Amino acid sequence: SASDFVRIVEVGPRDGLQNEAAEVSTATKIALIDRLSACGFPVVEATSFVSPRWVPQMADAAAVLGGIARRDGALYPVLVPNEKGLERALAAGVREIAVFTAASDAFNRRNINCDIDESLRRLAPVVARAVADGLWVRGYISTVLGCPYQGRVPVNDVVRVVKALDAMGCAEISLGDTIGVGTAKKARAMLEACATEVPMARLAVHFHDTYGQALANVYACLEAGVRVVDASVAGLGGCPYAQGASGNLASEDLVYQLHGLGMNTGVELDALCDTARWINAELSREPASKLARIANER
Ligand code: HMG
Ligand code: MG
Repeated sequence: SASDFVRIVEVGPRDGLQNEAAEVSTATKIALIDRLSACGFPVVEATSFVSPRWVPQMADAAAVLGGIARRDGALYPVLVPNEKGLERALAAGVREIAVFTAASDAFNRRNINCDIDESLRRLAPVVARAVADGLWVRGYISTVLGCPYQGRVPVNDVVRVVKALDAMGCAEISLGDTIGVGTAKKARAMLEACATEVPMARLAVHFHDTYGQALANVYACLEAGVRVVDASVAGLGGCPYAQGASGNLASEDLVYQLHGLGMNTGVELDALCDTARWINAELSREPASKLARIANER
């Protein structure tokens, strides 16, 4: 049934590769997205139209999008920080975008060079124009369970930003534990507070796995009713402006959990493990996910 379907938003090509120290070729990025499409992900976040001075890894965003094979029905959102990013995304033929801010001023200043209120003022016309152009718009909130610079983040600060992104017209709002400090009860309480303002069906959870809590947090949030979960192939990821943030929850570990719970994802687990192994080899990384390690031993 519909309530058994979890829509996984695969963020590896963006959240994963934005953080790689070594340069990743455009061809490798395209091959990664195509493999993830073939695995069956309904959403593959492809790249970012941010400032290449800030995030040089995403400077080839237009070339990446121009090179991928779009699977029918799948979405390929891209991060857009401002009007300039939207212009570039539209020129590249983008149909889905994601805007982003945070629940902490200190993080926003380092990540996007302005505080929360200023970011909301800047994003409002971007979202309005995107919605008017018929684009699907996702909104991200970072630091929902803790900030690397400020420390504790009150739930009310998260709820305030959820309301603002909803009022702007974001179709979906992803709640990001940027540095992976959250634990299950706090994650669930934060999600439930947000769901008093925006229907649960329009909320997503986005856990980095720094402290090994991501799967437990997902489980708690599934029990609270969330059905959109962000994850990254091979557990790639981290934010260049959040020191110490390690990778995202690994998609293959999430898919294993969800299928074990009897839930559907549309994702082919074997193909995904192959893709995790392949990208680990491309990036000369040791596998970060449990499943990629097992696959390596087979
Ligand atoms: P700024 O320096 O304040 O912006 O940066 P500016 O408007 O003064 O522009 C400075 C220069 O950048 C100018 O160039 C602009 O043209 C150019 P110059 O005239 O000096 O040569 N520029 C751009 N170029 C291309 N595309 C653009 C663009 N915008 C400006 N879109 C800005 C402000 C927001 C642009 C910058 O801080 C930035 O790009 N930040 C992005 C940081 C980022 O990508 N972080 C990672 C993504 S968020 C994340 O990972 C968290 C998430 O996963 C959830 C979670 O885990 O919490 C989503
Ligand atoms: Mg992230």
